[in-house]
Amino acid sequence: MSFSTSIISWYTIHKRDLPWRKTKDPYLVWLSEIILQQTKVSQGLPYYESFSKMFPNVADLANASEDEVLKLWEGLGYYSRARNMHHSAKFVIKEMKGIFPVSYQKLIQLKGVGDYTASAISSICKGEAKAVLDGNVFRVLARFFGITVPINSTEGLKIFKKIAENHLFLKDTGTYNQAIMEFGALQCKPRLPNCSNCPLTKKCLAYNTGKVSLLPIKLNKTKVKNRYFNFLVVISSDRKIALEQRSGKGIWQGLYQFPLLETSKSISSKEIMKSSNFLNYSVLETSKAVLFNNEEIIHKLTHQKLHVKFWIIYSKSAPVGAVAIKEIKKYAVPIVVKRFIDKMNL
Ligand code: ADE
Repeated sequence: MSFSTSIISWYTIHKRDLPWRKTKDPYLVWLSEIILQQTKVSQGLPYYESFSKMFPNVADLANASEDEVLKLWEGLGYYSRARNMHHSAKFVIKEMKGIFPVSYQKLIQLKGVGDYTASAISSICKGEAKAVLDGNVFRVLARFFGITVPINSTEGLKIFKKIAENHLFLKDTGTYNQAIMEFGALQCKPRLPNCSNCPLTKKCLAYNTGKVSLLPIKLNKTKVKNRYFNFLVVISSDRKIALEQRSGKGIWQGLYQFPLLETSKSISSKEIMKSSNFLNYSVLETSKAVLFNNEEIIHKLTHQKLHVKFWIIYSKSAPVGAVAIKEIKKYAVPIVVKRFIDKMNL
């Protein structure tokens, strides 16, 4: 049996029963593929259910507000995916006569759709001969073919693309692409792969040379940046709370948060109270900033490590932009803020 037929026959037996595998509607497949980027199936599944229910077609998504879309995306991370998705839905309505594209060439024009997503959708929905390369596929190919070139090098990318294309199962590219991803997710896992019960070990180079745990090779390119976030939780006596929307290009664009004081290192309550940000709020009366979490909360993002503190400040009157505390759950907030809101029982 060839590599691709072995993968497909494994898939026929072991595949998970997932809702996006029951449709060829490119809009729904696109929804699932965007949600599943950098996200495990188990985590993405409830989001797929809620998005496909709330916005069953591209027009429904295009007609929603960005706040609605971000609220539904809350907790999934990488929020630019949601903003790009919303942007693309409006683009399809305006520029593509409302017909969600299915060809690679058109899909790639959508914001947030790269080679991976366009290949996945066009192969699944139209059988185009496009090979997907995602983390799972890199791992399976690197191990089976014993490729030691780093997967995130320019040379590596070319080599992997070639191999992926050479081994496409042309009679059913969509099933094959999903099969190899599923094989990587369930069988050829990053840690503790199930080699003792794998139909591919006979010809697997990594297995036969004892290199399974060493492959794939990835260059460590990015340094993690430490950032120190102090959220000022200003609560007024008429039960309002200061809230602002994040703008700019950085993380959490479009989400809501408490007024933020970012510092270059961890700071004390005294330093907080000297900050102009704090003074802006505390002119309303003499107030104090009390640290809510004694231990810094560490929140890891791909290239950043956030050190988060929440400072509670009671103030007599509500600052500009404050919202009623009972309304706060309507706003899309970063997960670290959401956890605080839940803990505070706001
Ligand atoms: N990961 C992302 N998309 C997938 C799909 N369609 N099948 C299996 N795993 C995936």
